[in-house]
Parts: sequence; structure tokens; C-alpha cells
Amino acid sequence: MDKKTFYVTTPIYYVNARPHMGTLYSTVLADVAARWNKLLGKQTFFLTGLDEHGQKIAQVAVAAGVTPKAFVDSMVPYFKDMWQRYELEFNRFIRTTDADHEQAVVAFLRRLQDKGDIYKSSYTGFYCTPCETFVADSSIVKDNPVCPSCNRPVHELSEESYFFRLSAYQDQLLAFYEQNPDFIVPKERLNEVIAFVKSGLRDLSFSRKTVGWGIPFPGDPEHTVYVWGDALVNYISAIGFGKTDPASISEFAAWWPADLHIMGKDIVRFHAVYWPAMLLAAGLPLPRRLLVHGYLLMGGEKMSKSKGNVLDPADLANKYGVEPVRYYLMRHTTISQDSSITIQEIENAIAADLANGLGNLLSRTLTLALRNNLGTVSPITTLEASSALLKEQCGEAFRGYWDGMNHYQYHLALASVLKFVNQTNAYVSTLQPWVLAKTNKPLFDEVISSVCHSLYATAIMLWPIMPHKMEQLLKTLGESVIPGANYAEILRKNEWNKTFKLANLEEPLFPRPESNDAVGG
Ligand code: MSP
Repeated sequence: MDKKTFYVTTPIYYVNARPHMGTLYSTVLADVAARWNKLLGKQTFFLTGLDEHGQKIAQVAVAAGVTPKAFVDSMVPYFKDMWQRYELEFNRFIRTTDADHEQAVVAFLRRLQDKGDIYKSSYTGFYCTPCETFVADSSIVKDNPVCPSCNRPVHELSEESYFFRLSAYQDQLLAFYEQNPDFIVPKERLNEVIAFVKSGLRDLSFSRKTVGWGIPFPGDPEHTVYVWGDALVNYISAIGFGKTDPASISEFAAWWPADLHIMGKDIVRFHAVYWPAMLLAAGLPLPRRLLVHGYLLMGGEKMSKSKGNVLDPADLANKYGVEPVRYYLMRHTTISQDSSITIQEIENAIAADLANGLGNLLSRTLTLALRNNLGTVSPITTLEASSALLKEQCGEAFRGYWDGMNHYQYHLALASVLKFVNQTNAYVSTLQPWVLAKTNKPLFDEVISSVCHSLYATAIMLWPIMPHKMEQLLKTLGESVIPGANYAEILRKNEWNKTFKLANLEEPLFPRPESNDAVGG
């Protein structure tokens, strides 16, 4: 592994809604990617944050009788607290109202201006006077142009605007996609992007005169920077772009380009077309990869607050615990598709995979070993056939896991680990160590050592998804996750040469969920 750093980002979330399962999903994916790279011994930077400007926010603030800044400030704790509760270990929580972000946006746009890629023209679109906002062309029905938020008629309006010369980058973008066929995961999304770019790019309106709540446009304070010219720049402003002190310059050089931008499928175009073109214009390297996930559905529909079909991440955490929910999201959704989630499925996953599968394996092994005075478990030099097979299965589980993790197919990675947990449970049931304790002490010791090595490998593999629980598990084996170690190498070697010092669990690692429908579904 040559590269020693890994920089991952989530979209910055609009502050007009509180965190929900959809936004939690993007953020958990990023946390798992960061932790997986930590396991590879890399230094990681995980960025998330909030998209705070725009007319909608200003209007919500007016309705609430507060300033826009007071309103966005009041929303920050909902996100920060929820992300911290879900053990999302971000390195920076960026807000587009942060002073350094605002300066970076200005510095970035100045570069585009210097390049000659910003020009003044007039923007024509459908305008909703009551909402004081332009409505996207895509949400307008030709025969009956009404505002999608308030349903009242919209009318065509022209206003002066600064444009970014997106059209100039069509060929460079197409060449880039061709040279980087793995730019987007899953691959099919790249084809959609290529088709869109080939169909012809229009220049992008980058400023508004009618929106006051935004960053003043460099050189013309009558305008504010419009949406994507502000929001996308967060990925570089967070790591020092636009600052001139040596520490910031080297910070930026250390992290940019991003290794992974994570986002839902609705905002691919902005990340795969607009953002790369903006970076090309600014003379900056392009991100290495985009990971595009599908929607979480409930009852077959996209979960969204307006539809009222949302599961609240706080309710789920209260009822099932944070890490079982993280596990469920990573094990039972497929990133490349939309995934329906149901309470029944969450409860089944926790009961079958975690409580009965892994939790039970751990508790019965510990109880059996400690009851038979086997507190220190030594490695075995020559394994009997069924233990040797289990060891092979352990190696195989890691290969499946490795493959899944590297291709962002977390559900497959976890399926590989869970299959191995079941194989280990079957090994225990077949060898019956509770009988061996009385009849064949050497084989008893071998079984316990083999299961401890299996549990060790399992805990490391599940650590990116359930860090706290897996650290608890490792503690019962006298082990821990050592920062900077390259666990891929350790697990690939699959040497069962550890001496474990066992300690009892204070409480079950995964309590079985009590089924009721208190959280809906
Ligand atoms: N502010 C912009 C992003 C700017 S990034 C420079 C934005 N914000 S958002 O809050 O509306 O959406 C953020 C992310 O949440 C998107 O990637 C979106 O796909 C994701 N989700 C919102 N609802 C979702 C589901 N029900 N399921 C999965 N993710 C969905 O867009």
C-alpha cells in the first residue's frame, strides 16, 4: 500500500431538516470508509458539515422570527449531537457560514475570474414571487407552471447573474471519464454522467441578486454566490484552501485531492460534472472517486420528512443501541440500489446475526474457558483437521471481506464475516468442548484457542462498523485495536499465534431486541 492518507467527505446537509436516516446513511458510510482505512494503517480525514446559505433558510428564519444566522446556529447541535451519538468520528464539521469557508469561496471564485471563466449575463427562469425564489426548470410542468413548494403560479423572470463557463470543459471532462473509468462507484452511474455531458453543457448561473443570505460575490457585493459555487467548495475550504500561511498550505497539499466523495444519487451531477469542471478551471486536481448510494425507502417510497415516512435515528438508537443500527444499515442495504428498511428486518438482523450469532459465540466460549480455569489461552502449533479447516475458513472470510470493503460492497464484506461466525459456531457445536473439558484437555485447549483466534479476526473485521462493541469484545480476549497497525496484513497472514488473556463479559454484548412497534414500521 503506497498511499498513507485517506480523505473522505459526506455531502453537507441542508439545515432546514433535522438529521434523518438518509443523511445518517451517507455519514455512516463515510465513517466506515474512514475506519476501514485506519485499519490499513492510514491517516484519515473525515469531513462532514452543513450547507447553511440560501433563500429557503432565510425564509424559515423569518417565519421563526430570528436572523438566518441565529436559525442555522440553532440547528447545528441536532446534527453534531446525532453524529457524535452514532460514533461518527469526523475530523471537521464544516459550516458554510464559517469564516474560513467564506474566504475560501471568494479565493476560489477569484481564480475562476482570473482564468476568464466567469462572465456577467442574464439568467432567465421561473420565479415564485411569494417564495422569493427561482424554481428549477426540472420541477416545472410546461402547461401549468406552479411552484413545487407553495403550488402558486410562477412566472418567467430575468435577472443579472454571473455565469461559470461550464460548457468550455465538456471535452476535458469526457477525456477525464475515459481515463478514469473507476471514477464513480457503482460504474453504471458514470454512463449516465457521460451521456449527460455528451448531450451538451450549459453554463452555470453562479450568483443571485435576489438572495441576500449568502456569500457576497467577489467584486460585486450586489450579488451573492449561488448554491453550488458555495457548497461544493467546502471540500477544499475545510482543509486549508485559500489560506496563505505555511501550515494551511501543507495541510491542503497533504489531503487534496479527496480519495472519496460520498453522496446520494440525486446529487451525482453536481459532483461528477460541475465540481470537476470547477476544479479544472481552478487548476486543482480532481477527486479520486465518488461513491454514490441509493435511497433508503420505507414502504417502497423514499424516506422523507414531507412524506412523513421517516424513522428517527434517535428512536432507533434508544431502542436497539447505536452500533446494531450501524450494523443493520451496512449489512442489509446495498449501496448501489435503493433499499427498503423495516423494523422487522432490523430486529431480525440484531437477533440472528448479533445476539444469537456473534454474542452467543463469545459468551459461551468465555464461560466455558473460564469455568475450566483456562484464563490464558496459548497458541497451538499443530492443529487437528477440523481446527485447520476453521483456520482456512478464517482466511477465506478475510478475503471475502477485503474484496467487499475495497469495492464498497459492505453488505458482501459483512456477509463474508457472518458466514464465518456461523462456521465457528458450527465448529463449536460439532466438537463439543464442554465434553472435551472432561475427556480430552489438549483438544479442549485447541478448540478454545481456535475460537479465540476466530473471534479476534471477526472483531477486527467488524470494528469499522461497530467500533465500541468490538473493542469490548477484544478486551475480553486481552486484545485491542492498535492505531497505525496494518490489520489487512495481519489478517491476510492469518497466523494463529496469539496468547489470549480472557476476562468475563460484564453484560451480554448484544442484548436481544424486545419486539414491539414503538418506533413505527
Ligand atoms: N446540501 C446539498 C448537498 C451539498 S454537497 C456539496 C444536499 N443536502 S441534503 O440534505 O438535501 O441531502 C444530503 C444527502 O442526503 C444527499 O446525498 C441525499 O441523497 C441524502 N439523502 C436524503 N434522503 C435520503 C434517503 N431517504 N436515503 C438515502 N439518502 C438520501 O443535497
